[in-house]
Amino acid sequence: MTAPFYRDDLVTLFCGDCREITDWVAADVLVTDPPYGMAFQSGRRRKAFDLIVGDEDTTGRDAVLDMWGAERPGLVFGRWSVTPPSGERQRLIWHKARTTGMGDLAMPWGPNFEDIHVIGSGWDREAAGLPRVGSVITTTQAVGGVPTPRGGWGTRRRSLWGSWSSSSPAARRG
Ligand SMILES: C[S@@+](CC[C@H](N)C(=O)[O-])C[C@H]1O[C@@H](n2cnc3c(N)ncnc32)[C@H](O)[C@@H]1O
Repeated sequence: MTAPFYRDDLVTLFCGDCREITDWVAADVLVTDPPYGMAFQSGRRRKAFDLIVGDEDTTGRDAVLDMWGAERPGLVFGRWSVTPPSGERQRLIWHKARTTGMGDLAMPWGPNFEDIHVIGSGWDREAAGLPRVGSVITTTQAVGGVPTPRGGWGTRRRSLWGSWSSSSPAARRG
Protein backbone atom coordinates (compact mmCIF):
# COMPACT_ATOMS: atom_id res chain seq x y z
CA MET A 1 0.00 0.00 0.00
CA THR A 2 1.33 3.44 -0.94
CA ALA A 3 1.71 6.02 1.83
CA PRO A 4 -0.06 9.34 1.24
CA PHE A 5 2.01 12.26 0.08
CA TYR A 6 -0.03 14.49 2.43
CA ARG A 7 -2.86 14.00 4.87
CA ASP A 8 -4.90 16.13 7.25
CA ASP A 9 -8.42 16.05 8.65
CA LEU A 10 -9.97 17.07 5.34
CA VAL A 11 -7.81 15.73 2.56
CA THR A 12 -5.50 12.87 1.65
CA LEU A 13 -3.18 13.35 -1.30
CA PHE A 14 -1.28 10.67 -3.16
CA CYS A 15 1.44 11.29 -5.69
CA GLY A 16 1.73 8.67 -8.41
CA ASP A 17 -0.07 6.85 -11.18
CA CYS A 18 -3.77 6.77 -10.32
CA ARG A 19 -4.13 3.45 -12.13
CA GLU A 20 -1.76 1.93 -9.59
CA ILE A 21 -2.65 3.90 -6.45
CA THR A 22 -6.34 3.19 -6.30
CA ASP A 23 -7.52 4.55 -2.94
CA TRP A 24 -9.42 7.28 -4.81
CA VAL A 25 -11.87 4.71 -6.17
CA ALA A 26 -13.51 4.60 -2.72
CA ALA A 27 -14.48 8.30 -2.90
CA ASP A 28 -18.07 9.53 -3.02
CA VAL A 29 -17.58 11.73 -6.06
CA LEU A 30 -14.91 11.94 -8.73
CA VAL A 31 -13.62 15.36 -9.79
CA THR A 32 -10.78 14.94 -12.21
CA ASP A 33 -8.71 16.98 -14.63
CA PRO A 34 -7.16 14.17 -16.66
CA PRO A 35 -5.04 14.53 -19.78
CA TYR A 36 -7.62 15.62 -22.35
CA GLY A 37 -6.24 13.54 -25.19
CA MET A 38 -5.48 16.55 -27.35
CA ALA A 39 -1.68 16.12 -27.65
CA PHE A 40 -1.21 19.57 -26.18
CA GLN A 41 2.11 21.28 -26.81
CA SER A 42 2.52 24.68 -25.27
CA GLY A 43 3.18 27.36 -27.86
CA ARG A 44 5.08 29.34 -25.27
CA ARG A 45 7.57 26.70 -24.20
CA ARG A 46 8.82 24.06 -26.56
CA LYS A 47 10.95 21.87 -24.34
CA ALA A 48 10.06 18.20 -24.44
CA PHE A 49 9.00 18.10 -20.81
CA ASP A 50 6.13 20.45 -21.58
CA LEU A 51 4.17 17.58 -23.10
CA ILE A 52 1.49 16.35 -20.71
CA VAL A 53 1.89 12.70 -19.82
CA GLY A 54 -0.89 10.59 -21.31
CA ASP A 55 -2.23 13.38 -23.52
CA GLU A 56 -1.71 11.56 -26.83
CA ASP A 57 -5.26 10.22 -26.73
CA THR A 58 -8.10 9.54 -24.27
CA THR A 59 -6.83 6.10 -23.23
CA GLY A 60 -5.76 7.29 -19.77
CA ARG A 61 -8.97 9.22 -19.14
CA ASP A 62 -11.14 6.33 -20.23
CA ALA A 63 -9.19 3.80 -18.14
CA VAL A 64 -9.78 5.91 -15.04
CA LEU A 65 -13.46 6.30 -15.82
CA ASP A 66 -13.77 2.54 -16.27
CA MET A 67 -12.28 2.12 -12.80
CA TRP A 68 -14.80 4.61 -11.43
CA GLY A 69 -17.78 2.98 -13.10
CA ALA A 70 -20.89 4.38 -14.75
CA GLU A 71 -23.11 4.77 -11.71
CA ARG A 72 -21.41 7.12 -9.29
CA PRO A 73 -21.20 10.87 -9.84
CA GLY A 74 -18.22 12.44 -11.54
CA LEU A 75 -17.06 15.71 -13.05
CA VAL A 76 -14.43 15.32 -15.74
CA PHE A 77 -12.66 18.30 -17.23
CA GLY A 78 -12.16 18.08 -20.97
CA ARG A 79 -11.98 19.91 -24.24
CA TRP A 80 -14.49 20.56 -27.00
CA SER A 81 -12.25 19.09 -29.71
CA VAL A 82 -11.94 15.68 -28.07
CA THR A 83 -14.50 12.89 -27.97
CA PRO A 84 -16.40 13.13 -24.67
CA PRO A 85 -16.39 10.19 -22.29
CA SER A 86 -19.12 7.63 -22.79
CA GLY A 87 -22.09 8.06 -20.50
CA GLU A 88 -21.86 11.85 -20.45
CA ARG A 89 -25.13 13.16 -19.01
CA GLN A 90 -24.62 16.87 -19.20
CA ARG A 91 -21.97 19.35 -20.28
CA LEU A 92 -20.95 22.25 -18.10
CA ILE A 93 -18.95 25.11 -19.53
CA TRP A 94 -16.41 26.78 -17.30
CA HIS A 95 -16.18 30.30 -18.68
CA LYS A 96 -12.97 32.00 -17.59
CA ALA A 97 -14.07 35.55 -18.15
CA ARG A 98 -10.90 37.42 -17.43
CA THR A 99 -8.69 35.75 -20.00
CA THR A 100 -8.79 35.30 -23.75
CA GLY A 101 -7.35 31.80 -23.40
CA MET A 102 -4.55 30.26 -25.44
CA GLY A 103 -5.15 27.81 -28.30
CA ASP A 104 -4.51 28.80 -31.93
CA LEU A 105 -3.16 32.33 -31.60
CA ALA A 106 -3.89 33.02 -35.29
CA MET A 107 -7.60 32.76 -34.62
CA PRO A 108 -9.49 35.88 -33.56
CA TRP A 109 -11.09 34.05 -30.62
CA GLY A 110 -9.26 32.56 -27.70
CA PRO A 111 -10.91 29.56 -26.08
CA ASN A 112 -11.56 30.99 -22.62
CA PHE A 113 -13.66 28.05 -21.54
CA GLU A 114 -13.29 24.44 -20.60
CA ASP A 115 -15.77 21.60 -20.87
CA ILE A 116 -16.78 19.71 -17.76
CA HIS A 117 -18.41 16.37 -18.49
CA VAL A 118 -21.02 15.30 -15.96
CA ILE A 119 -21.22 11.54 -15.54
CA GLY A 120 -23.02 9.06 -13.33
CA SER A 121 -25.96 9.46 -11.01
CA GLY A 122 -26.54 11.34 -7.77
CA TRP A 123 -27.17 14.73 -9.36
CA ASP A 124 -30.51 15.18 -7.66
CA ARG A 125 -31.16 18.92 -7.49
CA GLU A 126 -34.29 18.66 -5.36
CA ALA A 127 -32.64 16.32 -2.85
CA ALA A 128 -29.80 18.79 -2.47
CA GLY A 129 -32.21 21.71 -2.16
CA LEU A 130 -30.48 23.59 -4.94
CA PRO A 131 -32.01 26.03 -7.43
CA ARG A 132 -31.84 25.17 -11.12
CA VAL A 133 -29.16 27.22 -12.83
CA GLY A 134 -27.57 27.42 -16.26
CA SER A 135 -24.75 25.13 -17.26
CA VAL A 136 -22.27 27.93 -17.90
CA ILE A 137 -20.16 28.69 -14.85
CA THR A 138 -18.39 32.01 -15.09
CA THR A 139 -15.40 32.86 -12.97
CA THR A 140 -13.89 36.29 -13.03
CA GLN A 141 -10.79 35.80 -10.95
CA ALA A 142 -8.11 33.25 -10.35
CA VAL A 143 -8.49 30.96 -7.36
CA GLY A 144 -6.10 32.33 -4.81
CA GLY A 145 -5.45 35.37 -7.00
CA VAL A 146 -5.40 38.92 -5.74
CA PRO A 147 -6.08 42.14 -7.65
CA THR A 148 -3.10 44.34 -8.30
CA PRO A 149 -3.09 48.15 -8.10
CA ARG A 150 -3.24 48.17 -11.90
CA GLY A 151 -6.54 46.39 -11.81
CA GLY A 152 -5.10 43.23 -13.32
CA TRP A 153 -4.15 40.06 -11.60
CA GLY A 154 -0.36 40.26 -11.66
CA THR A 155 1.61 37.09 -11.87
CA ARG A 156 -1.16 35.21 -10.13
CA ARG A 157 -3.36 35.63 -13.18
CA ARG A 158 -1.36 32.73 -14.56
CA SER A 159 -3.12 30.35 -12.24
CA LEU A 160 -6.06 30.56 -14.63
CA TRP A 161 -3.99 28.32 -16.84
CA GLY A 162 -3.19 25.85 -14.11
CA SER A 163 0.17 24.21 -14.45
CA TRP A 164 1.45 26.94 -16.75
CA SER A 165 2.42 28.86 -13.63
CA SER A 166 5.07 27.93 -11.16
CA SER A 167 4.54 31.03 -9.08
CA SER A 168 0.90 30.80 -8.14
CA PRO A 169 -0.24 29.00 -4.99
CA ALA A 170 -3.20 27.57 -6.87
CA ALA A 171 -0.97 26.00 -9.50
CA ARG A 172 1.39 24.60 -6.90
CA ARG A 173 -1.56 22.92 -5.26
CA GLY A 174 -2.39 21.30 -8.61
C1 LIG B 1 -4.82 18.31 -17.71
S1 LIG B 1 -3.45 18.03 -16.66
C2 LIG B 1 -4.03 18.56 -15.08
C3 LIG B 1 -3.40 19.85 -14.68
C4 LIG B 1 -3.74 20.33 -13.26
N1 LIG B 1 -5.18 20.42 -13.05
C5 LIG B 1 -3.10 21.69 -13.05
O1 LIG B 1 -3.79 22.69 -13.01
O2 LIG B 1 -1.87 21.73 -12.95
C6 LIG B 1 -3.42 16.28 -16.45
C7 LIG B 1 -2.38 15.81 -15.44
O3 LIG B 1 -2.54 14.41 -15.24
C8 LIG B 1 -1.27 13.83 -15.06
N2 LIG B 1 -1.38 12.40 -15.34
C9 LIG B 1 -1.32 11.78 -16.53
N3 LIG B 1 -1.48 10.44 -16.39
C10 LIG B 1 -1.65 10.23 -15.05
C11 LIG B 1 -1.86 9.07 -14.26
N4 LIG B 1 -1.93 7.84 -14.82
N5 LIG B 1 -1.98 9.21 -12.93
C12 LIG B 1 -1.92 10.41 -12.35
N6 LIG B 1 -1.73 11.57 -13.03
C13 LIG B 1 -1.59 11.46 -14.38
C14 LIG B 1 -0.38 14.59 -16.03
O4 LIG B 1 0.97 14.49 -15.66
C15 LIG B 1 -0.94 16.02 -15.87
O5 LIG B 1 -0.23 16.69 -14.85
